[in-house]
Amino acid sequence: MIRAHGKVILFGEHAVVYGRPALAVAIPDAVVLTSLHPRKQGVRVTVEPWGLHAGDESRGPVGDAIRILLRLLPDSGGFEARVSARILPGAGLGSSAALSAVLVQALAQVRGRSFDEEEIRRGVHKMETVFHGSPSGLDGALATLGGVCLFRRTGADGTGLVERLHLQPPPLVVGFSGRAKTTAVMVQHVRDRLAADPLGTETCFDAIQRLLEEGLAAWTSGDLTGLGRAMTANHMVLRELGVSTPELDIMVHTAIRAGALGAKLTGGGGGGCVVALAPGREEEVVSAWHEEGFLIFTLRLSA
Ligand code: PMV
Repeated sequence: MIRAHGKVILFGEHAVVYGRPALAVAIPDAVVLTSLHPRKQGVRVTVEPWGLHAGDESRGPVGDAIRILLRLLPDSGGFEARVSARILPGAGLGSSAALSAVLVQALAQVRGRSFDEEEIRRGVHKMETVFHGSPSGLDGALATLGGVCLFRRTGADGTGLVERLHLQPPPLVVGFSGRAKTTAVMVQHVRDRLAADPLGTETCFDAIQRLLEEGLAAWTSGDLTGLGRAMTANHMVLRELGVSTPELDIMVHTAIRAGALGAKLTGGGGGGCVVALAPGREEEVVSAWHEEGFLIFTLRLSA
């Protein structure tokens, strides 16, 4: 079965673009290929839950990404694919990397090849430049490897340094703020901030890295309170970086008021999702978001 994972970043979004580490948990099998029919040439893709019908002749970023896909392998031969998804696009959950990972594998299959994980990630990275500008490679790593990963960007090919941690995902709830976002815009926002205020922005990256280390140490020693505290503190730094929104801030406060140990925006920000660590309080957090009018989509992740 051809499938790929989404991801929830617990620590390190944006800072990871500049070589700092990031810690993320996969959303297993978030995007799955449901049918694949070889064609002489060209690619057609349908992702029904996203209302997406695109191909190599389509205008826009998905069309551009598919054209990049077709150049990954020298041989000819295309396909028609149907894909199912249990994450929303534009929500900060790695949807574009997961779809790209599925399409790279589909292309390899119809052209009689088999890609290893690193080759898939390299292909995903090329396609992701359309959506992200200069992706760190984190989404591609989680899309192909799954699990809980510590990632650090190294070169430009998007493979990076990935350490798969033997940790069970903590009980997480993810809620969508109702506003889709564009990662490239948010990444550019941080790039502009870094140019305007290098010291202040690097200080934010330092703080994020320290919180990742504290949060991971707490998690590995079973201290979920410490993990939650570090997550909320990471949200505050992202706010300082200018990538939060009033809705995301309200969702973080609402989750904590409802008993979450910590909460933060996850992904590029500017909209998208909040992730809350809420062991035994998942229902309360979901209902509190619902009461605030935010429950458009929720996802629970746990061991
Ligand atoms: O919002 P997403 O799922 O596209 O994640 C973006 C994560 C960033 O760190 C902001 C960008 C990147 O390439 O890692």
